[in-house]
Amino acid sequence: MRPEDFADVVRALAKAGFAGANVTIPHKQAAFAVCGRVAPEARRAGAVNTLVFRDGSIEGFSTDGAGFLANLRAHGVDPARGPALILGAGGAARAIGAALQDAGVAVTFCNRTAARAGDLAAALQAAVLPWDRRASALGDFSLLVNTTSLGMVNQPELDINLSAAAPELVVADIVYAPLETPLLAAAKSRGLKAVEGLGMLLHQAVPGFAAWFGVTPVVDEEIYRIVTE
Ligand SMILES: NC(=O)c1ccc[n+]([C@@H]2O[C@H](COP(=O)([O-])OP(=O)(O)OC[C@H]3O[C@@H](n4cnc5c(N)ncnc54)[C@H](OP(=O)(O)O)[C@@H]3O)[C@@H](O)[C@H]2O)c1
Repeated sequence: MRPEDFADVVRALAKAGFAGANVTIPHKQAAFAVCGRVAPEARRAGAVNTLVFRDGSIEGFSTDGAGFLANLRAHGVDPARGPALILGAGGAARAIGAALQDAGVAVTFCNRTAARAGDLAAALQAAVLPWDRRASALGDFSLLVNTTSLGMVNQPELDINLSAAAPELVVADIVYAPLETPLLAAAKSRGLKAVEGLGMLLHQAVPGFAAWFGVTPVVDEEIYRIVTE
């Protein structure tokens, strides 16, 4: 779909009787713009990934941040643990950073393009770390989150040496293809807790499904099995 057609397509879906839609990159900002009402967390994320068509209106939500926190909990990790180092400064970094802050966590952004990290940190009143310090500063953090596309299939690996990490560091990667990224494999080989990204994808879908169909799905092993087969 051409980005300029996005709003027309969404309005047509609403008119055709659809209950709503999930939205992914590169349309999350356009989705924000087409909504008559935008939930507070989507306003903070600056993007909408879940549309709900209700009584002739289009409502927008951002469930990425909540999905990330729910996945941490599902792995036995308290989302309030911190401070957190977030690698990346794109849409996912913003949603996750805002959600972690709402859980009371101090957040630092670290991105290849420093200006982007600076803008995001200013918008969320977070801290910034230069990209070349991502490994040496690890000992200052108890949660590391990769929100860059590095480590994804057909992308370079994330280059980070985990030797400065404290033993209690939790390493989360939101890349889910492959399921075990090189970063997660490196974390496990050091005995660190590793949290995969597929769970975030599954958990972020729960609120939309509940709003569209009136049933709250449970993210269980069967769903993992179905989507990975
Ligand atoms: N698990 C889930 O549910 C879920 C949800 C959303 C997104 N994701 C995944 O998260 C990733 C990011 O999504 P997004 O929406 O935030 O994308 P985005 O807005 O395009 O941001 C991409 C980020 O990756 C960084 N990056 C890309 N190539 C790089 C490289 N070669 N070296 C260093 N940094 C690099 C970018 O840095 P620069 O600013 O320097 O370009 C930027 O910070 C994607 O892989 C996406 O599939 C997963």
